Amino acid sequence: MNRQLMCVTCESTYPCEDRRLRCDCGGLLDVQLDMDSAPSPAALAATFESRLTSRLPEDLSGVWRYRELVLDLPAEDIVTFPEGRTNLYTLDAAPLGLSALWAKHEGENPTGSFKDRGMTVAVSWARHQGARALICASTGNTSASLAAYGARAHLPVFVLIPEGKIAQGKLAQALAYGAHTLQIDGSFDDAMHAVEQMATQHNLTLVNSLNPFRLEGQKTIILDSYFQLGQMLPDWIVVPGGNLGNTSAFGKALVEMKALGLIDRVPRLAVIQAEGASPFARAAQDSFRRFEPVQPETIATAIRIGNPVNYDKAVRAIRFTNGVVTSVTDAEILQAKHDLDRQAIGCEPASAASLAGLRRLVREQVVSPSESALLIITGNLLKDPDTTIALATGQTAGLGIPGAASLDACANEPRHVPSDPETIARIVEEELR
Ligand code: F0G
Repeated sequence: MNRQLMCVTCESTYPCEDRRLRCDCGGLLDVQLDMDSAPSPAALAATFESRLTSRLPEDLSGVWRYRELVLDLPAEDIVTFPEGRTNLYTLDAAPLGLSALWAKHEGENPTGSFKDRGMTVAVSWARHQGARALICASTGNTSASLAAYGARAHLPVFVLIPEGKIAQGKLAQALAYGAHTLQIDGSFDDAMHAVEQMATQHNLTLVNSLNPFRLEGQKTIILDSYFQLGQMLPDWIVVPGGNLGNTSAFGKALVEMKALGLIDRVPRLAVIQAEGASPFARAAQDSFRRFEPVQPETIATAIRIGNPVNYDKAVRAIRFTNGVVTSVTDAEILQAKHDLDRQAIGCEPASAASLAGLRRLVREQVVSPSESALLIITGNLLKDPDTTIALATGQTAGLGIPGAASLDACANEPRHVPSDPETIARIVEEELR
């Protein structure tokens, strides 16, 4: 299918080959698909489904499997692990009183987060265009993902991260995969501002979600879910919101699926922010008439973002899907994380915002009992072992979270035991009682 870049503010168009991050007017750019050249929905679905039995790397990828709607590239230019094809789990809907509840575990991607879906596209496109080096700002997962895809593409990688504010697992990945890791004395928003300022001038390819090709890859979370659910989508899709890349990508996926005739009813998006980093939720309260950045603070470091770059696209996504935006406290996030972890859907704190937010929306009767919901679990538990261990060892009070006392029941402390089998057996029996 034909594609071009289109400004979401003034609708100016540019060829995809233009190495620009924004429109001349400053607006965000979309990769716009020419729907007139699209195959029928039945033909598209048949093509996507047929690739499930192929052994080609580009068909094994849960991103490139949908390449007609993602990006046309020669197979040899595709940088893939492969990624995507993550599991979609059925959860018990009864505690929330819903008709059905599912969780799509994006933490099962090669580097442990949904970022891989966007990164395979951004890095493949960058290499195709002869990029010199790749750069991003990150709260951690983007840097881990870029480090991995850059290594696979044999391209130098630079990542800017807020010093001391990214989870250990993510830092370990960036370092291990060989990224030049630059820790700044500032927030993610400062890092984002810096990379945007310098990227174009210094001929570095920026692969944050400001790069519209990233979002083309992240649309496949929705496509994958649609096919896994037997070509349908639930009433609600619930996703944590930080830089609002997923929110934007999901909205775009739904616009396109509707235009292509794959769906006729559009699910509602529910975007969940951490209370201490909720500029989008605040703007939503005032029907997006005004936006004010905030100084972010939350235990969910992945979404510790006060000035999301994709704001305009995310507003469009909420409007198109009749969506909602809300926020949850850090204590609610950790309680939800514990509840997901105990079902072995282990996740990092930011991901659990989805369940915490859904609980809030059910309580507030925004989501009603006859409805179904899909939670997007954005990152793997192993990303942030420190928070998980603090929760298990009852040390959340030390994290300075209001209401953390209620989390004491989440503890599962390791016990020190002597090494003789008899004593161990006695303890096992005691614990089984
Ligand atoms: N969940 C996780 C685990 C994340 O890493 C992120 C973003 C989000 C949710 C929010 O997604 O930005 O699309 O709204 N992490 C970015 C990073 C910012 O640098 O890794 P979003």
